[in-house]
Amino acid sequence: MESHQHILLLLAHLLVFLCNSKLLTSQLLPVIEDLANKSQIYIIHVEKPEGSVFLGDEDLESWHKSFLPNTPLDSGEPRLVYSYRHAISGFAARLTPEEVRAMEAMDGFLAATPDEESEPQTTYTPQFLGLSQWTNGTWHQTMYGEGIIIGVVDTGLHPNHPSFGDHGMPPPPVRWKGSCNFTGFGCNNKIIGAAAFRGGKQPSQPPTDNKGHGTHVASIAGGNFASNASVLGSAGGTASGMAPKSHLAIYKASTNADVLGAIDQAIADGVDVLTLSIGRATKKKFFESEVSIGLHAAVEHGIPAICAMGNSGPDWQSLEFHAPWLIGVGASATDRRIMATVKLGNGIEIEGESAFQPSTFNSSVLLPLVFPGINGTDDDEACLDEYTLDKLNVRGKIVLCMTGGESTNVAKGKRLYEAGAAGMILVGPVYRGRDTFAEPHVLPVSYVNYVDGQKIRCYVYSMKNSTPTATIIFRGTRFGHRPSPHLAAFSSRGPSKINGGILKPDIIAPGVDILGAWRDPPGFGNTAPFAFSSGTSMAAPHIAGIVALLKNKHPDWSPAAIQSAIMTSATSLDLDGNPIIDARTNEPADVYGIGAGHVRPWAAMDPGLVYDLNTTRYTDYLCGLGYTDDEVKRTVRRTVNCSTVQKIAASDLNYPSIGVSLNSSITSANFTRVVTNVGQARSTYNAIITEPKGVRVDLSEYQLKFSRLWQTVTFTVKLSLKNPRPGKIRNAGGKLEWVSNKYVVTSPIAVDFT
Ligand SMILES: *[C@@H]1O[C@H](CO)[C@@H](O)[C@H](O)[C@H]1NC(C)=O
Ligand SMILES: *[C@@H]1O[C@H](CO)[C@@H](O)[C@H](O)[C@H]1NC(C)=O
Ligand SMILES: *[C@@H]1O[C@H](CO)[C@@H](O)[C@H](O)[C@H]1NC(C)=O
Ligand SMILES: *[C@@H]1O[C@H](CO)[C@@H](O)[C@H](O)[C@H]1NC(C)=O
Ligand SMILES: *[C@@H]1O[C@H](CO)[C@@H](O)[C@H](O)[C@H]1NC(C)=O
Ligand SMILES: *[C@@H]1O[C@H](CO)[C@@H](O)[C@H](O)[C@H]1NC(C)=O
Ligand SMILES: *[C@@H]1O[C@H](CO)[C@@H](O)[C@H](O)[C@H]1NC(C)=O
Ligand SMILES: *[C@@H]1O[C@H](CO)[C@@H](O)[C@H](O)[C@H]1NC(C)=O
Ligand SMILES: *[C@@H]1O[C@H](CO)[C@@H](O)[C@H](O)[C@H]1NC(C)=O
Ligand SMILES: *[C@@H]1O[C@H](CO)[C@@H](O)[C@H](O)[C@H]1NC(C)=O
Repeated sequence: MESHQHILLLLAHLLVFLCNSKLLTSQLLPVIEDLANKSQIYIIHVEKPEGSVFLGDEDLESWHKSFLPNTPLDSGEPRLVYSYRHAISGFAARLTPEEVRAMEAMDGFLAATPDEESEPQTTYTPQFLGLSQWTNGTWHQTMYGEGIIIGVVDTGLHPNHPSFGDHGMPPPPVRWKGSCNFTGFGCNNKIIGAAAFRGGKQPSQPPTDNKGHGTHVASIAGGNFASNASVLGSAGGTASGMAPKSHLAIYKASTNADVLGAIDQAIADGVDVLTLSIGRATKKKFFESEVSIGLHAAVEHGIPAICAMGNSGPDWQSLEFHAPWLIGVGASATDRRIMATVKLGNGIEIEGESAFQPSTFNSSVLLPLVFPGINGTDDDEACLDEYTLDKLNVRGKIVLCMTGGESTNVAKGKRLYEAGAAGMILVGPVYRGRDTFAEPHVLPVSYVNYVDGQKIRCYVYSMKNSTPTATIIFRGTRFGHRPSPHLAAFSSRGPSKINGGILKPDIIAPGVDILGAWRDPPGFGNTAPFAFSSGTSMAAPHIAGIVALLKNKHPDWSPAAIQSAIMTSATSLDLDGNPIIDARTNEPADVYGIGAGHVRPWAAMDPGLVYDLNTTRYTDYLCGLGYTDDEVKRTVRRTVNCSTVQKIAASDLNYPSIGVSLNSSITSANFTRVVTNVGQARSTYNAIITEPKGVRVDLSEYQLKFSRLWQTVTFTVKLSLKNPRPGKIRNAGGKLEWVSNKYVVTSPIAVDFT
């Protein structure tokens, strides 16, 4: 149906990723004793000698080599893995722990960290986000991101996918220094950069994606229009990325040393935007987070850096990244569902989802419903005990299963299918809240959320003396699900305890059941190389594409100004004007879950005012956090003496949001802010304050008057605990809005009661 043709946007086997990342975080670093003679890759941070100037990359490389032992490795591999030019001041090399210890005494040595693996963390979203409206839409205004180069550091790219065709694309800008030089890889005017990093740059290997994750991410950010995009026939339409005319540069990397190599190359190549959907759940301080350091370098080069904040929600303090120079992105669910409704024998209908929508399944026939877990073991509940399944004889029946255990949902379905089951009802875990997921199953399936699953269990338990029955009704792609958007339960939450109270995530964007280009046809019998995937991995490239549109419109804006535009134009309300709901609790989402709120691209293009920042302020801020000189040096890659810089408190970093911890000893905080007028030359803004519960907000100015563009005005915000103090709430959110006759410039206020 024409009216149901929608622009589709482009996500990973969420559960697999989540499980993997949880397992990996608990892996131990090598045990030093046993491995004393075994070499591995280390990232070494060094400080340039006072007054030294390196003429070229070769000079730099020989200085880096001067730190290395002269003895060759038994394996014959080269010692030096990377000589970084931009991403950090330092190099990566193969060394034994003893050799690293010897190096510590050398002049200029700052720190060494063993290399670690990182983990990888749309037919519809451009329309959902309002990009594709005909004449006056954001795409039109920003020329679809034309001329902007998005660098994607991830698992690579599946070559020659229709999302990466170059129809309608101009050649790369002349300033571009990168290259895509692999036959058969689909290098064209869309894919203009391609490089693979694995224990060193691999000049002869294209960055081929063996996972699908990187392909998906790249297509969300900058995929071209591709018709007939669907998964197993669902959600069909024209797929495109957020910035369909932007160019893409693909950097394949998986360990920290490789990611730094990729960032180094991307900076040298001249990308305009850099997006990373990989990482590891981490509470590392900035100077210990190699990726944060590399991205600080990118931002200093004028390249906005976008990061997925992680899928470890709804746990508190589960963020992957904390740095103020990064745009940290959480995930929302849109109003699209790939419907598979469960109908029980008692007539109750329950909404679920599945990407596989079999047309031959006769939903008017109620089938016997069996629950292997009825007598209670975890394995039985998850349909993993073969003995129970055999005993039950699932042939021709619908089987009720909990997700989880040592099996993916799709594999679980496949086993039941092979045992002759007619269908499966999958019940999500409690921590996923209201979220449901459309997966490429091989048999009729409905994925329902935990609460709805309980209703089905109750029905089964209630049928003591007769057979429970059910069927699944496949209703295809439906829009208009409410409430929408909502915060995905898996999206990582703040507050961050290591950045001085700066609110993270910054923003949320679609990240549930996102249709995107994929490596191989997922599932069975599907020919379209697209897949649904969910995660903050999918949310980050949405923002990257929107940043590309902003770059097209405002090529001279700093990364901080672009971040500000995206944040102050976002909304904390859903499509119906109610507070955005958290899928976990079904209550209004916490400010530490949604940050500034849901992205509104069209509003970001013209924000009125921006909170801008000179990158030197990040050094002042790091010194203000109390880091040692050496720790700051590592992070900002140059010589720093904190006793001579103008230290600033985190509250005085000119950030577009306001965040702080208050308690019985610290009962108030002051924030200095400077706004720059980028809207109308003559304009007046009045303040509207929504106080966080239990907190009083006072401003030094309640009206800001501007007479010209680029004029700046300074004001202060004072937060203080009210008397009596708020009861047992752990945090509260509010906002400061500057309102003119044309613009509303909103900063969220987040208070963590410690
Ligand atoms: C490590 O190397 C030293 C000297 O090269 C040698 O004496 C020692 O036996 C080695 N240890 C192991 C565990 O291989
Ligand atoms: C575009 O036009 C539509 C319909 O006239 C209007 O509702 C919408 O607000 C406009 N959008 C912008 C960004 O001007
Ligand atoms: C492309 O690759 C070929 C063969 O590997 C090499 O000769 C050529 O110099 C490369 N070109 C660029 C621009 O890197
Ligand atoms: C899209 O699918 C339709 C129906 O399957 C087919 O007729 C058409 O040729 C396809 N278009 C493209 C561009 O593949
Ligand atoms: C579905 O089953 C009903 C009841 O048995 C039957 O009347 C109907 O014809 C079937 N529909 C199809 C499409 O097979
Ligand atoms: C559960 O227990 C009852 C009573 O012991 C038994 O009849 C039934 O077969 C059991 N069901 C399963 C699925 O094990
Ligand atoms: C940032 O500040 C430094 C020191 O005040 C100044 O030298 C530099 O030009 C500024 N950079 C920008 C982009 O304004
Ligand atoms: C840092 O600056 C202070 C004040 O100028 C000076 O006393 C101190 O020696 C400097 N530290 C270093 C390591 O240079
Ligand atoms: C209040 O917070 C500060 C900084 O976070 C902390 O050092 C202090 O111990 C806290 N005081 C109380 C009473 O919890
Ligand atoms: C905040 O500013 C006010 C007024 O300038 C001052 O009285 C107060 O002490 C300051 N509070 C803090 C916590 O710095």
